[in-house]
Amino acid sequence: MDQTDTIPIAIGWNELAQPVMVDIAKDAAHWLIQGKTRSGKSQCTYNLLAQAGSNPAVRVVGVDPTSVLLAPFVHRRPAEPNIELGLNDFDKVLRVLQFVKAESDRRIECFWDRRIDKISLFSPALPLILLVLEEFPGIIEGAQDFDATNGLKPADRYAPRITSLVRQIAAQSAKAGIRMLLLAQRAEASIVGGNARSNFAVKMTLRVDEPESVKMLHPNATPEECALVEGFVPGQGFFDQPGLRRQMIRTVRVGEYSTYASYVENADLAYEAALNIDRAQRMTIASEYPHLGDIG
Ligand SMILES: Nc1ncnc2c1ncn2[C@@H]1O[C@H](COP(=O)(O)OP(=O)(O)OP(=O)(O)O)[C@@H](O)[C@H]1O
Ligand SMILES: [Mg+2]
Repeated sequence: MDQTDTIPIAIGWNELAQPVMVDIAKDAAHWLIQGKTRSGKSQCTYNLLAQAGSNPAVRVVGVDPTSVLLAPFVHRRPAEPNIELGLNDFDKVLRVLQFVKAESDRRIECFWDRRIDKISLFSPALPLILLVLEEFPGIIEGAQDFDATNGLKPADRYAPRITSLVRQIAAQSAKAGIRMLLLAQRAEASIVGGNARSNFAVKMTLRVDEPESVKMLHPNATPEECALVEGFVPGQGFFDQPGLRRQMIRTVRVGEYSTYASYVENADLAYEAALNIDRAQRMTIASEYPHLGDIG
């Protein structure tokens, strides 16, 4: 497969009924979506992942306490190993984050040799990595409970190690072609407080009840805007993306879970074929030009 510098994702429509798109290849930004229960978070995320997941230049990894959102990627072919479903194995949660951090470091180390300062071309061999953290506050709370129940010593505690890895990934990895998608019922200071906010440039607020949550994610939101959010219907939200004014959007509604699952499943054959063709091409190159070294 060729390299691509564009991975457009359709999010929904704005008030003028114009499509709202984000190019996750071009916008080197992390995502944060907040919304209370029944606000339309799952529909919005199914839509995002259905599109990202059917692109062979994207690899979806992450942690999903609900065991629902990322299940299609565990069951896809080839299965994605860097996904933890449920919150039963905090070592696995750490391993997923460590994988992303190590891959980010590895890519950044290659920058100077290639005289680049960011990765902007993606392919199955060097995919855009979408790190999905569903119910992020729940992941941290689960880890804190585990640490307390097992009386772990400070250095062994999972919650601070998970938080620290997520902070590092948020701060450093976008230029390495990694995008974090963080989902929460509401954005809290522990997630986006202080400097951390600037790491999330794509921000969506579906219905939330407290104006403080709107302010937390969109500090310049007016009182009128904050008041609107309380009345949002499912799928209605504020959307900020780099370089554009805030838009009021209506997100895409995918429908039943099975529809979402089949989007990913139906893309599997093409996904696997693209990976195989890419690998075959690189093996051919490696055999013809052995001095280029390991193809990975
Ligand atoms: N863009 C949309 N347009 C119309 N209806 C929508 C839209 N998004 C969601 N809905 C409807 O709103 C309801 C809640 O949506 P969804 O399950 O995505 O919410 P949620 O925030 O994930 O809720 P939960 O907390 O239960 O997980 C569903 O019935 C869904 O069909
Ligand atoms: Mg949901």
